[in-house]
Amino acid sequence: MSDAASNPMLQVSDLHAYYGKSHVLHGVNLHVNAGEIVCLLGRNGVGRSTTAKAVMGQVVARGNIRFKGREILGQKAYEIARLGVGYVPEDRSIFPDLTVRQNLMLGIKDPRAHSRGEGRWNIDDMYALFPRLKERDNTPGGVLSGGEQQMLTLCRTLMGDPDLIMIDEPTEGLAPKIVERSSGT
Ligand SMILES: Nc1ncnc2c1ncn2[C@@H]1O[C@H](COP(=O)(O)OP(=O)(O)O)[C@@H](O)[C@H]1O
Ligand SMILES: [Mg+2]
Repeated sequence: MSDAASNPMLQVSDLHAYYGKSHVLHGVNLHVNAGEIVCLLGRNGVGRSTTAKAVMGQVVARGNIRFKGREILGQKAYEIARLGVGYVPEDRSIFPDLTVRQNLMLGIKDPRAHSRGEGRWNIDDMYALFPRLKERDNTPGGVLSGGEQQMLTLCRTLMGDPDLIMIDEPTEGLAPKIVERSSGT
């Protein structure tokens, strides 16, 4: 067994999650190794979003969630984000009155490191990835199309230099051409 397999970046074991009295996840197990892409597939309502929310500390859950070898179940969402988990929620959570650039800046978790150029990504990288966003640099987030908002929310999460990124419904609203390009086909 390789190191990566014995020490996954994310290890979810026997995860249960609840909304009030509804017991929604019943013992989910999964792991994600560094450099790996893992997709959760299933019919609507099967619990994919809830799994991501549980990792992010946004639902009541029990079981074990280890990220980079450390138990994170029970920690607050902002602490989990600081440890290096990036999350793109399905509702996108764009700040409608802030411009595209301001929305991107808000994704930076460590502004000092970023201003020293230590971040993995900067705004120019994002604009190179999605040239359409560059054209919208000074446009308020609220007036973007669904696809543009999807690009923005993905890029805002990347600006936080996550080690792991969880994207709920990654291709939602994106034009088929962009989906094709991003999936490398
Ligand atoms: N806020 C909520 N309150 C109560 N039940 C919820 C809530 N969100 C989701 N659920 C229920 O939890 C189950 C899993 O939902 P979800 O994780 O959103 O599924 P998926 O993302 O796979 O479509 C569904 O039965 C859904 O109705
Ligand atoms: Mg969902």
